[in-house]
Amino acid sequence: MLNIPKIVENFPKLRQSNEIHADAPGGTQVPESVINAISHYLIHQNANLGAAFRTSKESDQTLLNAGITVQALLNARSNSEIIFGNNMTSLTFHISRSIGNTLQAGDRILLSKLDHEANISPWQLMARDKKCEVDFVEIDAETCTFNKADLERKLSKKPKLFAFTACSNATGTLNDIPKLTKLGHDAGAIVYVDAVHYTPHKLIDVIQWDCDFLACSAYKFFGPHVGILYGKESLLNNLQPYKVRPAADSNPGKWMTGTQNHEGIAGTTAAIDYLASLSGANNSTSKRTQLEQAFNKIEEHEKTLSACFLEGIRKLDGIEIVGLKDLENINQRVATFALTSKKVPANIMAKELALTGIFAYSGNFYAKTLMETLGYEGKGGVLRIGFVHYNDLNQVEVILDELKRILSSE
Ligand SMILES: Cc1ncc(COP(=O)(O)O)c(C=O)c1O
Repeated sequence: MLNIPKIVENFPKLRQSNEIHADAPGGTQVPESVINAISHYLIHQNANLGAAFRTSKESDQTLLNAGITVQALLNARSNSEIIFGNNMTSLTFHISRSIGNTLQAGDRILLSKLDHEANISPWQLMARDKKCEVDFVEIDAETCTFNKADLERKLSKKPKLFAFTACSNATGTLNDIPKLTKLGHDAGAIVYVDAVHYTPHKLIDVIQWDCDFLACSAYKFFGPHVGILYGKESLLNNLQPYKVRPAADSNPGKWMTGTQNHEGIAGTTAAIDYLASLSGANNSTSKRTQLEQAFNKIEEHEKTLSACFLEGIRKLDGIEIVGLKDLENINQRVATFALTSKKVPANIMAKELALTGIFAYSGNFYAKTLMETLGYEGKGGVLRIGFVHYNDLNQVEVILDELKRILSSE
């Protein structure tokens, strides 16, 4: 079991006030070790790469360590498969041009209506440039899960690329990633997984999933604003990067445009080390094993929070969860909840919560296609309450009580 009061002590932002963070899907808080790693890099290293002097050599080492640490987080085969960048969106735009160059006019690509626009717009624009056809997997509105018949139909058109989310950042719905990857591969597609929302909740395994690309962002898993892209080595070897001439010709350097956010990358290593430390195992245990143990605890704790929230919402009048609502589906979701009320608009609920020190977003969260599909776009979207491992049951109860008050006062 996770010791939440002890965990909160690690987070300067969380320990300094009684504010309740239900805003993790927009970005998580960072532990002190991450802040220290960033300032350590800036105070003691802070150089560009590839020179003979100490700070440059240490900067080389900082990037190398980060690649190895992210390799453990994703279970990649090699640290040369780990590419850093600004954020998931810019990395996806970046690689989309190289993937686009392997496509012909008339080729099809398959996207999903459950996705954040960062895994839609880059591919739509690439398709426009390459004169490719775009299909979307439809979702079942009641559950916000992929419509299986539609998925089958769209895959039968033999897309060359299948891009989908591991987990919805709006509704918390999980996808069956190995299954979807296999279906995509059987259809002949390159499979691109958006794991931005998945990463703080569950442990990624690119070997087991067999996806070709996977993108995530450290600021969603207790680190700084750094984007991460995994690519299978064979694909990274064969695709042509858009790069400046003097930049590296080998992986992963040829995919990293310009000077990286070295301090952020140092902080990313610290964020993964922080997650590994939740295992309680000593450092003779491999990082991957520590992460496996840590995520077992994280999942167990978050399920407790989810169960309490699902039960509590069911008892409230005038509000409902968008997507999977039942306890029996708890394994098909993470602790991220989209809420809608006929009584109170989502933005008013978010404002009222903010007045009591509860931080939660309302809107579309860039899951614009999903909100259009569900009919919430243009109507203020939904309220999103998101929990991660540093939230506790008491906070869930406080949020439920506040929602009850807001709904009964309207
Ligand atoms: C599911 C999902 N995908 C992609 C993104 C975009 O990530 P980034 O901000 O790193 O570009 C987000 C950000 O909220 C997200 O939640």
